[in-house]
Order: sequence, then C-alpha cells, then structure tokens
Amino acid sequence: MRSYLHIFILVVATFQFTQSHVHAIPQTMEEEYDAATTGMLETLYGEGFLSHGGPETVSRMFKGISLHNKKMLDIGCGFGGPSIYLAKKHSVDITGIDPVKHILDKATKIADKQQLKTKVTFILTPQLPYPFADETFDIAFSKEALLHSREKQAVIKEIFRVLKPGGQVVILDWVFSPATNQSTRDLFNVPTFNPIEQQEYVEYFKDAGFNDISTAEQNNLACKYTIESIKHLKKNKESIVQKFGVHEYEEALLGWNTQYVLFKQKQVLVTLFKARKPETSTGIVQPVRVFKWYNPFTWFGK
Ligand SMILES: C[S@@+](CC[C@H](N)C(=O)[O-])C[C@H]1O[C@@H](n2cnc3c(N)ncnc32)[C@H](O)[C@@H]1O
Repeated sequence: MRSYLHIFILVVATFQFTQSHVHAIPQTMEEEYDAATTGMLETLYGEGFLSHGGPETVSRMFKGISLHNKKMLDIGCGFGGPSIYLAKKHSVDITGIDPVKHILDKATKIADKQQLKTKVTFILTPQLPYPFADETFDIAFSKEALLHSREKQAVIKEIFRVLKPGGQVVILDWVFSPATNQSTRDLFNVPTFNPIEQQEYVEYFKDAGFNDISTAEQNNLACKYTIESIKHLKKNKESIVQKFGVHEYEEALLGWNTQYVLFKQKQVLVTLFKARKPETSTGIVQPVRVFKWYNPFTWFGK
C-alpha cells in the first residue's frame, strides 16, 4: 500500500520506533492503490468502499440535498461503493471517474453484478479536463479522493464547468489546519498525497465562482469509524493475516492507530465542503458558513 504505510512512517518518526519495516514510498496511484491495499481497505470498509463510514457517511454527505432524478458525478469513485449505494437508494444517474484502471474495472464489475449498468457508469479519467460537456451534472461529489490531487484548484474550476447553473458540489476530504504540525505535514509529503489547508479549499471555491460555501469538520465521526476498523482488525486477525500476511496486518494496525491519533488531535481535519454554482452570475460571493458537527454518540450522553 500504502496509505497506512505512510501513517506507519509517521509513527516511526514520532515515537522513534524501529525503521526496519519501512517499504518503498509509492510513486504512482497504481502503486498507492495496489491489490493488497485496496483489498485491506475493502476488508475494513465493506464491498465497494475504499474509505470509512460506508453508506452511513455517504448519506450524511447529502443530508438536506434532494437527489431525486439528479445527474451526479463521483470524482475518485474507487470501487464505486458510494455511487452504487446512491444508485440503489435514489432515482439518480451517476458517472464515476477515477485515474486507476484496475480500480475502475472492479467498480464496473461490482455495478454489473448488481445490475446497475443503466444507472451507474464508470469512466477512466487519468487527467484533466474531465470528458464532459459544460453544465452536464446537477451534483458533483468526491469522497476522500482529492487528498491525492496536486491540481485541486484546477479540479474545482473543472467541477464548476461541468455543473449546471444552481448545481452543487459536495466534497469530503482530509485537510490541514494552521495548527497541523510539521511531522504530520512531512508524513504527507510524498508523491501520492497532497492535502491542503481547509482555508485554501474555500479560496479555490470562491475563485472558481461558487457561492453558498460551507465547511463542516467531522473528526469525531472519523475517530469512531477508525476505532471500528481497529476493532475489526483485532477481532479478525487470523483471517486477515491468512489473506494478506502478518507484515501487512501489522502495518495496517499501526497505520489505523496512528490515523486515529491524527484525527483525535485534529492534525488532519476530515472536512465536508459544500458549495453551489450560482443560477446566474451576480459576482456576489456570500460569507462562508461553518457547521460544527455534534457527534450524537457523545453528545446525547452529556
Ligand atoms: C480512498 S479511495 C476513495 C474511493 C471512493 N471515493 C470511496 O469512498 O470508496 C481514493 C480514490 O481516489 C482516486 N484518486 C487518486 N488520485 C486522484 C485524483 N487526482 N483525482 C480523483 N481521484 C483520484 C484513487 O484512485 C482512489 O480510487
């Protein structure tokens, strides 16, 4: 892999552990998301999902947004779990794009198996511009994928282009804050990752022409899902070791533990961004709304 390998490296740097297990740093997305990594992610997150929270998180991303009969774009669709879930639950037409071929092939296979060919289409899209006409989609979304992009500003402009007037963008991503320390920034200073500051994202939305921009930090939920993954790893140690080997298992365990620390200490902010393309261009940008996420699991207990 190796998302969790990078996390592993941080643990080494932070806690001065031995460096004897460090692998080569992935240079490409194909290396980052090799079979072992995607296999481990799917084992932890469920069929079709390469990111945390499964259908629950996907539903939360669109809370308050009507999806009925909408034409949607999923950027960095992975194995297609989020798109397939939305297509089964709502009357939507979804196109998923991703730069990695073996990932797209698997997404297509899962959608075919579930007879969703007419509602979900996956298109290999290794680079900008996206292969769609202006004003094609009602909603564009991305779940934990754009942290890999080195062209986020261009991506956001491209999203603006392919959205219909009044269309919405919904992005869940990992970002930094001014409080993020240097060792966390160093951890992500590798070819396949490029998290930016939360505020930088907001500026990109504004520059592209979006309005009605909001941010909502969801670290409490990210911690909850990370703990679930750690529990799953521990409970299913035997079968996971059998499938992936003991080394991969140990790296995963260490990686998810470190991920938990990064989320808990808010070194990395798991942030839901929403914005709208104006119906008509007024040139007036409204103030950014910041939502605080109250985790119901802790909130009601207080
Ligand atoms: C953590 S997975 C998330 C996949 C999916 N969104 C999900 O939630 O299951 C990240 C995905 O982003 C894709 N990706 C990598 N670089 C990208 C880029 N520049 N733009 C869009 N997607 C990218 C990867 O190939 C991978 O499928």
